Amino acid sequence: MPRVRTLDDLRHWWDRHAEDYDRSMSWAERKLFEDTRPWIAGRARGRTLEVAVGTGLNLEHYPDDVAITGVELSPRMLERARRRAASLGIDADLRLGDAQRMDFDGASFDTVVVTFSLCCVPDEARAVAEMARVLRPGGLFLLADHVESTSMWIRALQRVIEIGSVPFAGEHFRRRPIRHVEAAGLRIEEHDRFKKGMIERLAARKPEDRA
Ligand SMILES: C[S@@+](CC[C@H](N)C(=O)[O-])C[C@H]1O[C@@H](n2cnc3c(N)ncnc32)[C@H](O)[C@@H]1O
Repeated sequence: MPRVRTLDDLRHWWDRHAEDYDRSMSWAERKLFEDTRPWIAGRARGRTLEVAVGTGLNLEHYPDDVAITGVELSPRMLERARRRAASLGIDADLRLGDAQRMDFDGASFDTVVVTFSLCCVPDEARAVAEMARVLRPGGLFLLADHVESTSMWIRALQRVIEIGSVPFAGEHFRRRPIRHVEAAGLRIEEHDRFKKGMIERLAARKPEDRA
């Protein structure tokens, strides 16, 4: 099995898994995520950027009046997101890009969303800093991910899983992106952690006085 070492490797990994992605997520969607997608997308307002949009599983949950821009590393995942947007009648600007270095001016968006992706972005601290940069002062940052469990036994299992998942899929199970959100100076307004602490979701505000 090829190792995932570079951003190109990661792109190819996701290209290879694009066709199966929705099906492979269906168990986690039902058993772990609960109402996380509507919880996140339902809070979006105005110009909304979804980073690492994948196949667009959040698209159906956004309010009708948000203007959606999506960035995604994998052309095949993006193709599926575009098809999903078209079938939902959503006019979204969905484009290729890297979450760690985005092609947008600072303060371009009222809302920035990222779900179940910081687990695989190579430098998640840099991606969060980048998302904070493109968010306008007073704007809302919405994040959900699977993270390190609060249970000692599950943490041990996550550690074992990572022995294979990190080198061969670029997938981390013990990250805590909330730390990077706080380090980026965003103020947490809502926070939930459930399923033995494995699922974490939050809404954070960029202070009005931050550039
Ligand atoms: C587990 S999927 C999540 C997709 C979607 N956000 C969801 O909630 O279903 C992770 C996605 O992150 C994308 N990704 C990984 N690294 C990225 C990067 N540096 N920039 C943009 N997208 C990235 C992958 O291509 C993949 O589509």
